[in-house]
Amino acid sequence: MSQPGYHVAIAGATGAVGTEFLRLLEERPFPLGRLSLLASARSAGKTLRFMGDDLPVHELTDRSFEGVDIAFFSAGGGRSKQFAPVATEAGAVVIDNSSAFRMDPAVPLVVPEVNPDDALAHRGIIANPNCSTILLVMVLAPLHRLSPIRRVVVSTYQAASGAGAQAMLELEEQTAAFLQGAPIVKDVFPHQIAFNLFSHNTAIDETGYNEEERKMVNETRKILGEPDLAVSATCIRVPILRAHSESVNVEYVGPRPPLDAVRDALAAFPGVRVVDDRQANRFPMPLHASGEDDVLVGRIRDDMSHPSAVDLFLSGDQILKGAALNGFQIAHLLIERGALKGAMTK
Ligand SMILES: NC(=O)c1ccc[n+]([C@@H]2O[C@H](COP(=O)([O-])OP(=O)(O)OC[C@H]3O[C@@H](n4cnc5c(N)ncnc54)[C@H](OP(=O)(O)O)[C@@H]3O)[C@@H](O)[C@H]2O)c1
Repeated sequence: MSQPGYHVAIAGATGAVGTEFLRLLEERPFPLGRLSLLASARSAGKTLRFMGDDLPVHELTDRSFEGVDIAFFSAGGGRSKQFAPVATEAGAVVIDNSSAFRMDPAVPLVVPEVNPDDALAHRGIIANPNCSTILLVMVLAPLHRLSPIRRVVVSTYQAASGAGAQAMLELEEQTAAFLQGAPIVKDVFPHQIAFNLFSHNTAIDETGYNEEERKMVNETRKILGEPDLAVSATCIRVPILRAHSESVNVEYVGPRPPLDAVRDALAAFPGVRVVDDRQANRFPMPLHASGEDDVLVGRIRDDMSHPSAVDLFLSGDQILKGAALNGFQIAHLLIERGALKGAMTK
Protein backbone atom coordinates (compact mmCIF):
# COMPACT_ATOMS: atom_id res chain seq x y z
CA MET A 1 0.00 0.00 0.00
CA SER A 2 1.21 3.55 -0.73
CA GLN A 3 -0.56 6.90 -0.24
CA PRO A 4 0.42 10.36 1.11
CA GLY A 5 1.63 10.02 4.69
CA TYR A 6 4.47 8.49 6.69
CA HIS A 7 6.28 5.33 5.72
CA VAL A 8 6.05 3.07 8.78
CA ALA A 9 7.97 -0.16 9.35
CA ILE A 10 7.17 -2.75 12.02
CA ALA A 11 10.14 -4.93 12.95
CA GLY A 12 8.62 -7.97 14.66
CA ALA A 13 5.31 -7.64 12.80
CA THR A 14 4.35 -11.29 13.34
CA GLY A 15 4.74 -11.18 17.15
CA ALA A 16 2.36 -10.38 20.01
CA VAL A 17 3.30 -6.68 20.07
CA GLY A 18 3.75 -6.36 16.28
CA THR A 19 0.25 -7.74 15.68
CA GLU A 20 -1.12 -5.08 18.01
CA PHE A 21 0.76 -2.31 16.14
CA LEU A 22 -0.87 -3.55 12.95
CA ARG A 23 -4.31 -3.46 14.55
CA LEU A 24 -3.79 0.07 15.90
CA LEU A 25 -2.66 1.33 12.48
CA GLU A 26 -5.70 -0.32 10.91
CA GLU A 27 -8.32 0.84 13.41
CA ARG A 28 -7.18 4.26 14.57
CA PRO A 29 -6.44 7.54 12.82
CA PHE A 30 -2.83 7.75 11.66
CA PRO A 31 -1.24 9.54 8.68
CA LEU A 32 0.03 6.29 7.18
CA GLY A 33 1.49 6.38 3.69
CA ARG A 34 3.23 3.05 3.37
CA LEU A 35 3.68 0.07 5.66
CA SER A 36 6.61 -2.36 5.69
CA LEU A 37 6.28 -5.58 7.69
CA LEU A 38 9.51 -7.15 8.94
CA ALA A 39 10.26 -10.32 10.87
CA SER A 40 12.74 -13.18 10.86
CA ALA A 41 13.72 -15.24 7.82
CA ARG A 42 11.18 -17.82 9.09
CA SER A 43 8.33 -15.46 8.26
CA ALA A 44 9.65 -14.10 4.97
CA GLY A 45 7.08 -14.79 2.28
CA LYS A 46 4.14 -14.95 4.70
CA THR A 47 1.41 -12.33 4.40
CA LEU A 48 -0.52 -10.43 7.06
CA ARG A 49 -3.99 -9.04 6.51
CA PHE A 50 -4.13 -5.24 6.64
CA MET A 51 -7.03 -3.05 5.50
CA GLY A 52 -8.35 -5.70 3.15
CA ASP A 53 -4.95 -6.45 1.59
CA ASP A 54 -2.48 -9.27 2.15
CA LEU A 55 0.79 -7.48 2.89
CA PRO A 56 4.03 -9.44 2.47
CA VAL A 57 6.36 -9.96 5.44
CA HIS A 58 10.03 -9.39 4.62
CA GLU A 59 13.12 -10.52 6.47
CA LEU A 60 14.61 -7.78 8.68
CA THR A 61 17.95 -6.81 7.09
CA ASP A 62 20.27 -3.83 6.74
CA ARG A 63 18.30 -2.76 3.68
CA SER A 64 14.87 -2.74 5.35
CA PHE A 65 14.70 0.95 6.23
CA GLU A 66 15.21 2.89 3.00
CA GLY A 67 12.62 5.68 2.91
CA VAL A 68 11.14 4.68 6.31
CA ASP A 69 10.04 7.58 8.54
CA ILE A 70 8.97 5.68 11.68
CA ALA A 71 10.21 2.22 12.68
CA PHE A 72 8.42 0.40 15.48
CA PHE A 73 10.77 -2.25 16.85
CA SER A 74 9.36 -5.27 18.72
CA ALA A 75 11.67 -8.09 17.68
CA GLY A 76 13.76 -8.47 20.85
CA GLY A 77 16.74 -6.59 22.26
CA GLY A 78 19.36 -8.22 20.03
CA ARG A 79 17.57 -7.13 16.86
CA SER A 80 17.08 -3.60 18.24
CA LYS A 81 20.78 -3.28 19.06
CA GLN A 82 21.73 -4.51 15.61
CA PHE A 83 19.16 -2.76 13.43
CA ALA A 84 17.96 0.39 15.24
CA PRO A 85 21.22 2.25 14.37
CA VAL A 86 20.79 1.09 10.76
CA ALA A 87 17.26 2.48 10.74
CA THR A 88 18.26 5.86 12.20
CA GLU A 89 21.17 6.07 9.77
CA ALA A 90 18.63 5.62 6.97
CA GLY A 91 16.62 8.57 8.38
CA ALA A 92 13.93 6.79 10.39
CA VAL A 93 12.93 7.54 13.97
CA VAL A 94 12.94 4.31 15.97
CA ILE A 95 10.39 3.62 18.71
CA ASP A 96 11.83 0.59 20.45
CA ASN A 97 9.87 -1.84 22.62
CA SER A 98 12.89 -3.82 23.74
CA SER A 99 15.10 -3.09 26.74
CA ALA A 100 18.15 -2.44 24.51
CA PHE A 101 18.33 1.35 24.95
CA ARG A 102 16.03 2.11 27.89
CA MET A 103 18.71 3.03 30.38
CA ASP A 104 20.96 4.78 27.84
CA PRO A 105 21.15 8.39 29.12
CA ALA A 106 21.00 9.66 25.53
CA VAL A 107 17.74 7.82 24.82
CA PRO A 108 14.43 9.18 26.16
CA LEU A 109 12.25 6.63 27.98
CA VAL A 110 8.73 7.85 27.45
CA VAL A 111 5.16 7.38 28.64
CA PRO A 112 3.30 10.17 26.81
CA GLU A 113 0.89 10.95 29.67
CA VAL A 114 3.80 11.21 32.13
CA ASN A 115 6.92 12.69 30.49
CA PRO A 116 5.99 13.73 26.91
CA ASP A 117 8.59 16.49 26.72
CA ASP A 118 11.42 13.98 27.16
CA ALA A 119 10.51 12.55 23.74
CA LEU A 120 11.32 15.82 22.02
CA ALA A 121 15.02 15.52 22.87
CA HIS A 122 15.44 12.28 20.95
CA ARG A 123 18.38 11.61 18.67
CA GLY A 124 16.63 9.08 16.53
CA ILE A 125 15.70 6.42 19.10
CA ILE A 126 12.97 6.61 21.73
CA ALA A 127 12.55 3.71 24.15
CA ASN A 128 9.20 2.32 25.21
CA PRO A 129 9.47 1.31 28.87
CA ASN A 130 9.01 -2.19 30.28
CA CYS A 131 5.33 -3.18 30.28
CA SER A 132 4.94 -3.52 34.08
CA THR A 133 6.74 -0.21 34.54
CA ILE A 134 4.43 1.66 32.16
CA LEU A 135 1.36 0.45 34.07
CA LEU A 136 2.98 1.39 37.39
CA VAL A 137 4.04 4.94 36.42
CA MET A 138 0.57 5.62 35.02
CA VAL A 139 -0.70 5.54 38.62
CA LEU A 140 2.43 6.85 40.34
CA ALA A 141 2.59 10.04 38.23
CA PRO A 142 -0.74 11.51 39.42
CA LEU A 143 -0.03 10.42 43.01
CA HIS A 144 3.43 12.02 42.92
CA ARG A 145 2.00 15.26 41.49
CA LEU A 146 -0.56 15.32 44.31
CA SER A 147 2.18 15.16 46.93
CA PRO A 148 5.77 13.87 46.62
CA ILE A 149 6.22 10.15 47.14
CA ARG A 150 9.17 8.59 48.91
CA ARG A 151 8.86 4.84 48.44
CA VAL A 152 6.98 2.29 46.35
CA VAL A 153 6.58 -1.43 47.02
CA VAL A 154 5.03 -3.32 44.12
CA SER A 155 4.15 -6.97 43.45
CA THR A 156 3.14 -8.01 39.95
CA TYR A 157 0.83 -10.67 38.54
CA GLN A 158 2.10 -10.90 34.95
CA ALA A 159 0.26 -12.54 32.08
CA ALA A 160 1.83 -15.20 29.88
CA SER A 161 1.58 -12.99 26.79
CA GLY A 162 4.21 -10.71 28.32
CA ALA A 163 6.67 -13.35 27.13
CA GLY A 164 5.32 -13.29 23.56
CA ALA A 165 2.89 -15.08 21.28
CA GLN A 166 4.43 -18.54 21.86
CA ALA A 167 4.06 -18.16 25.62
CA MET A 168 0.33 -17.48 25.24
CA LEU A 169 0.04 -20.64 23.17
CA GLU A 170 1.96 -22.58 25.82
CA LEU A 171 -0.55 -21.56 28.50
CA GLU A 172 -3.46 -22.65 26.27
CA GLU A 173 -1.84 -25.97 25.37
CA GLN A 174 -0.76 -26.79 28.93
CA THR A 175 -4.25 -25.96 30.21
CA ALA A 176 -5.83 -28.30 27.66
CA ALA A 177 -3.26 -31.03 28.43
CA PHE A 178 -3.79 -30.67 32.20
CA LEU A 179 -7.57 -31.00 31.83
CA GLN A 180 -7.19 -34.06 29.61
CA GLY A 181 -4.61 -35.66 31.93
CA ALA A 182 -2.01 -35.50 29.15
CA PRO A 183 1.72 -34.71 29.73
CA ILE A 184 2.56 -31.03 30.21
CA VAL A 185 5.07 -29.75 27.64
CA LYS A 186 7.36 -26.83 28.64
CA ASP A 187 9.00 -24.91 25.83
CA VAL A 188 8.91 -21.19 26.58
CA PHE A 189 8.67 -21.05 30.38
CA PRO A 190 10.97 -22.91 32.76
CA HIS A 191 8.01 -24.13 34.85
CA GLN A 192 4.46 -25.26 34.24
CA ILE A 193 2.36 -22.10 33.80
CA ALA A 194 -1.10 -23.72 33.67
CA PHE A 195 -2.65 -23.87 37.19
CA ASN A 196 0.58 -22.52 38.66
CA LEU A 197 2.53 -19.28 39.20
CA PHE A 198 6.24 -18.63 39.57
CA SER A 199 8.88 -15.96 40.01
CA HIS A 200 9.42 -14.02 36.76
CA ASN A 201 11.46 -15.97 34.24
CA THR A 202 14.40 -13.54 34.04
CA ALA A 203 17.87 -13.90 35.53
CA ILE A 204 18.48 -13.12 39.20
CA ASP A 205 21.69 -11.26 40.09
CA GLU A 206 23.67 -11.10 43.34
CA THR A 207 21.10 -8.71 44.88
CA GLY A 208 18.44 -11.44 44.73
CA TYR A 209 16.28 -9.33 42.40
CA ASN A 210 15.50 -10.62 38.91
CA GLU A 211 15.94 -8.57 35.74
CA GLU A 212 12.25 -7.63 35.46
CA GLU A 213 12.31 -6.29 39.03
CA ARG A 214 15.46 -4.26 38.37
CA LYS A 215 13.84 -2.80 35.24
CA MET A 216 10.86 -1.68 37.30
CA VAL A 217 13.15 0.05 39.81
CA ASN A 218 15.46 1.77 37.33
CA GLU A 219 12.93 2.67 34.65
CA THR A 220 10.42 4.10 37.15
CA ARG A 221 13.11 6.44 38.47
CA LYS A 222 14.13 7.54 34.96
CA ILE A 223 10.58 8.20 33.72
CA LEU A 224 9.55 10.12 36.84
CA GLY A 225 12.89 11.98 36.90
CA GLU A 226 13.43 10.85 40.51
CA PRO A 227 16.79 9.04 40.66
CA ASP A 228 16.53 8.51 44.44
CA LEU A 229 12.96 7.21 44.61
CA ALA A 230 12.92 4.03 46.72
CA VAL A 231 11.31 1.19 44.76
CA SER A 232 11.14 -2.51 45.57
CA ALA A 233 9.47 -4.96 43.18
CA THR A 234 8.51 -8.63 43.22
CA CYS A 235 7.56 -9.90 39.75
CA ILE A 236 5.47 -13.04 39.38
CA ARG A 237 4.21 -14.81 36.27
CA VAL A 238 0.58 -16.01 36.57
CA PRO A 239 -1.63 -18.21 34.36
CA ILE A 240 -3.45 -15.31 32.69
CA LEU A 241 -3.46 -14.92 28.92
CA ARG A 242 -3.42 -11.15 28.73
CA ALA A 243 -3.17 -8.04 30.99
CA HIS A 244 -0.83 -7.61 33.94
CA SER A 245 -1.96 -6.69 37.46
CA GLU A 246 0.01 -5.07 40.28
CA SER A 247 -0.44 -4.58 43.99
CA VAL A 248 1.14 -1.24 44.89
CA ASN A 249 2.02 0.38 48.21
CA VAL A 250 2.91 4.08 47.95
CA GLU A 251 4.51 6.00 50.81
CA TYR A 252 4.37 9.79 50.82
CA VAL A 253 7.19 12.07 52.00
CA GLY A 254 4.72 14.14 54.02
CA PRO A 255 1.31 13.31 55.47
CA ARG A 256 -0.86 11.00 53.36
CA PRO A 257 -3.36 13.02 51.24
CA PRO A 258 -7.04 12.23 51.96
CA LEU A 259 -8.29 9.15 50.07
CA ASP A 260 -10.80 11.26 48.13
CA ALA A 261 -7.94 13.40 46.83
CA VAL A 262 -6.01 10.26 45.85
CA ARG A 263 -9.03 8.86 44.07
CA ASP A 264 -9.74 12.17 42.28
CA ALA A 265 -6.11 12.54 41.17
CA LEU A 266 -6.17 9.03 39.69
CA ALA A 267 -9.57 9.54 38.04
CA ALA A 268 -8.47 12.82 36.44
CA PHE A 269 -5.30 11.36 34.93
CA PRO A 270 -5.65 10.54 31.20
CA GLY A 271 -5.40 6.81 30.53
CA VAL A 272 -6.35 5.79 34.10
CA ARG A 273 -9.83 4.57 35.09
CA VAL A 274 -10.86 4.10 38.71
CA VAL A 275 -12.73 0.82 39.29
CA ASP A 276 -13.26 0.80 43.01
CA ASP A 277 -16.68 -0.39 44.12
CA ARG A 278 -16.27 -1.76 47.64
CA GLN A 279 -19.93 -2.69 48.09
CA ALA A 280 -20.14 -4.72 44.90
CA ASN A 281 -16.60 -6.08 45.40
CA ARG A 282 -15.80 -4.81 41.94
CA PHE A 283 -12.16 -3.96 41.37
CA PRO A 284 -9.65 -4.16 38.49
CA MET A 285 -9.35 -7.56 36.82
CA PRO A 286 -7.18 -8.61 33.87
CA LEU A 287 -10.33 -9.94 32.20
CA HIS A 288 -11.76 -6.42 32.08
CA ALA A 289 -8.45 -4.71 31.31
CA SER A 290 -7.76 -6.92 28.26
CA GLY A 291 -8.23 -5.02 25.03
CA GLU A 292 -8.71 -1.72 26.89
CA ASP A 293 -6.53 1.37 26.56
CA ASP A 294 -6.97 2.47 30.18
CA VAL A 295 -5.09 1.23 33.22
CA LEU A 296 -7.76 0.18 35.74
CA VAL A 297 -7.05 1.06 39.38
CA GLY A 298 -8.93 0.22 42.58
CA ARG A 299 -8.64 -1.23 46.12
CA ILE A 300 -7.62 2.34 47.00
CA ARG A 301 -7.21 2.42 50.75
CA ASP A 302 -5.15 3.77 53.62
CA ASP A 303 -2.29 1.48 54.58
CA MET A 304 -3.29 0.44 58.12
CA SER A 305 0.33 -0.25 58.97
CA HIS A 306 1.76 3.14 57.99
CA PRO A 307 0.46 6.70 58.54
CA SER A 308 1.89 8.07 55.25
CA ALA A 309 1.09 5.23 52.85
CA VAL A 310 -1.76 4.12 50.59
CA ASP A 311 -2.44 0.76 48.96
CA LEU A 312 -3.97 0.11 45.58
CA PHE A 313 -4.34 -2.54 42.88
CA LEU A 314 -4.18 -2.11 39.11
CA SER A 315 -4.76 -4.11 35.94
CA GLY A 316 -3.70 -3.02 32.47
CA ASP A 317 -3.31 -4.54 29.02
CA GLN A 318 0.46 -4.86 28.78
CA ILE A 319 0.42 -5.50 25.01
CA LEU A 320 -1.60 -2.31 24.47
CA LYS A 321 -0.67 0.41 27.00
CA GLY A 322 2.33 -1.63 28.13
CA ALA A 323 3.74 -1.83 24.60
CA ALA A 324 2.09 -1.10 21.23
CA LEU A 325 -0.35 1.62 22.29
CA ASN A 326 2.36 3.49 24.19
CA GLY A 327 4.61 3.35 21.10
CA PHE A 328 1.75 4.45 18.86
CA GLN A 329 1.08 7.40 21.20
CA ILE A 330 4.78 8.35 21.05
CA ALA A 331 4.59 8.42 17.25
CA HIS A 332 1.51 10.68 17.41
CA LEU A 333 3.27 12.93 19.92
CA LEU A 334 6.32 13.34 17.65
CA ILE A 335 4.13 14.12 14.64
CA GLU A 336 1.98 16.62 16.58
CA ARG A 337 5.01 18.38 18.08
CA GLY A 338 6.93 18.42 14.78
CA ALA A 339 9.67 16.33 16.38
CA LEU A 340 9.79 13.38 14.07
CA LYS A 341 13.16 14.22 12.60
CA GLY A 342 14.10 17.56 14.17
CA ALA A 343 16.33 16.26 16.93
CA MET A 344 18.34 14.03 14.64
CA THR A 345 20.21 16.94 13.10
CA LYS A 346 21.79 17.88 16.46
N1 LIG B 1 4.55 -9.13 24.91
C1 LIG B 1 4.55 -8.04 25.67
O1 LIG B 1 3.63 -7.84 26.48
C2 LIG B 1 5.66 -7.03 25.58
C3 LIG B 1 5.51 -5.85 26.29
C4 LIG B 1 6.52 -4.88 26.23
C5 LIG B 1 7.63 -5.13 25.47
N2 LIG B 1 7.76 -6.29 24.80
C6 LIG B 1 8.98 -6.47 24.01
O2 LIG B 1 8.64 -6.46 22.62
C7 LIG B 1 9.50 -7.34 21.90
C8 LIG B 1 8.64 -8.36 21.16
O3 LIG B 1 7.86 -9.07 22.09
P1 LIG B 1 6.65 -10.01 21.66
O4 LIG B 1 5.96 -10.32 22.92
O5 LIG B 1 5.89 -9.40 20.52
O6 LIG B 1 7.44 -11.30 21.15
P2 LIG B 1 6.98 -12.45 20.14
O7 LIG B 1 5.49 -12.61 20.15
O8 LIG B 1 7.82 -13.62 20.47
O9 LIG B 1 7.40 -11.86 18.72
C9 LIG B 1 8.76 -11.67 18.37
C10 LIG B 1 8.85 -11.00 17.02
O10 LIG B 1 10.24 -10.80 16.72
C11 LIG B 1 10.54 -11.41 15.46
N3 LIG B 1 11.90 -11.93 15.45
C12 LIG B 1 12.43 -12.88 16.24
N4 LIG B 1 13.70 -13.14 15.86
C13 LIG B 1 13.97 -12.32 14.81
C14 LIG B 1 15.10 -12.12 13.97
N5 LIG B 1 16.24 -12.82 14.13
N6 LIG B 1 15.01 -11.19 12.98
C15 LIG B 1 13.88 -10.49 12.80
N7 LIG B 1 12.76 -10.64 13.56
C16 LIG B 1 12.82 -11.55 14.54
C17 LIG B 1 9.54 -12.54 15.34
O11 LIG B 1 9.44 -12.92 13.99
P3 LIG B 1 9.10 -14.45 13.57
O12 LIG B 1 7.62 -14.60 13.74
O13 LIG B 1 9.54 -14.51 12.15
O14 LIG B 1 9.88 -15.34 14.48
C18 LIG B 1 8.28 -11.86 15.88
O15 LIG B 1 7.71 -11.02 14.91
C19 LIG B 1 10.46 -7.95 22.95
O16 LIG B 1 11.63 -7.19 22.96
C20 LIG B 1 9.69 -7.79 24.24
O17 LIG B 1 10.54 -7.72 25.35
C21 LIG B 1 6.80 -7.25 24.82
